[in-house]
Amino acid sequence: MAAAPTFYVVPGSAVKSLIDDNRKQVFDAVEAAYRLHASGDTVNPDSYFLRYADKPNARIIALPAHLGGTVQKSGIKWISSFPENRASNLARASAVLILNDPTTGYPLACIEASLISATRTAASAALAAEHISPHLREGALGVIGTGIIARTTVEWLLFRNWKFRKISLYDVDRKEAERFSAWLQDRHHLQVDIQYRLEDVVRGASLILFATTALAPYLTDEKLLEHSPTILHLSLRDICVNVILASQNIVDDVDHCLKANTSLHLSEMATGGRSFVAGNLVDVLDKRVAPDRHRPRIFSPFGLGVLDLAVGNLVLEAAISSNAAIAIADFFSNSARW
Ligand SMILES: NC(=O)c1ccc[n+]([C@@H]2O[C@H](COP(=O)([O-])OP(=O)(O)OC[C@H]3O[C@@H](n4cnc5c(N)ncnc54)[C@H](O)[C@@H]3O)[C@@H](O)[C@H]2O)c1
Repeated sequence: MAAAPTFYVVPGSAVKSLIDDNRKQVFDAVEAAYRLHASGDTVNPDSYFLRYADKPNARIIALPAHLGGTVQKSGIKWISSFPENRASNLARASAVLILNDPTTGYPLACIEASLISATRTAASAALAAEHISPHLREGALGVIGTGIIARTTVEWLLFRNWKFRKISLYDVDRKEAERFSAWLQDRHHLQVDIQYRLEDVVRGASLILFATTALAPYLTDEKLLEHSPTILHLSLRDICVNVILASQNIVDDVDHCLKANTSLHLSEMATGGRSFVAGNLVDVLDKRVAPDRHRPRIFSPFGLGVLDLAVGNLVLEAAISSNAAIAIADFFSNSARW
């Protein structure tokens, strides 16, 4: 007779230490999830957006997914984005991840997921950076939008042994850039410069990270990218259509990326086609698409729910085996039919 599972809760403090202790495994799990997705062993429907008429900036997104392979977990991430939270020093994003057993459908765990989400985003950006940059793990880094996603991505680039000869920052809110600069100095002993103009960061950088909360594209001057940098376009809505069309575009999943008024979606609407997308990250990993040194190379990841499942599953297994998960044995106390 099948018994209902024990339900686990994994708090954010445990998630943080488990990710810190298992970075290599997390990085590998993200790459494996991309490969499973490319091979068709996943289900990753469209994300579902809850929006508010009186707060156009705010949203809560549901990302249901199933990941096959050796993971065999289904689940959903429910993630809020409230940019105004920043005014009271509260993170923009907050999230939970529910993992389900795909055999019985039963929920297995509820895991604090803002860090899981930032981690899978940052690890996937670091994976892309090392496969689409002509100069492996070196150069000058430019960061546009110096919030939590940028901080997490820089952490992962440093974990992957990038050595930057220069780091430049730009944020519309200079105080945010100053905080980021202080963090880099205190935590990583790295000196940075803070620029007053976006142009001064973009021109000097061989690796550019966009992690803003811009709702509509603003980078329109193609000449700023004449030096053909590698661009991690994590915020998806910073780069204007003409710049997208003049670049080599790599995505995580083309159907997902060309939605929700992303720069790529606007480019598809402007051209009526998708031929400006060179391929997905697995095409690059498997050398079906070669990075083009003579154009900017832009990685635009929509952010797949299957990545959250991959990292969440790893965290749950590590949490159970180290007794960091809170077990609620009678959560499904009424599950026997008779
Ligand atoms: N693609 C993905 O998988 C993925 C995953 C997670 C988050 N994101 C995106 O990453 C972005 C950043 O998230 P976060 O948690 O770091 O947010 P955050 O609020 O912590 O930081 C965003 C920063 O961008 C700055 N900013 C806003 N508009 C700007 C502009 N036009 N130019 C320069 N700076 C600007 C803000 O002042 C702020 O400091 C969000 O857009 C989020 O949706 C993408």
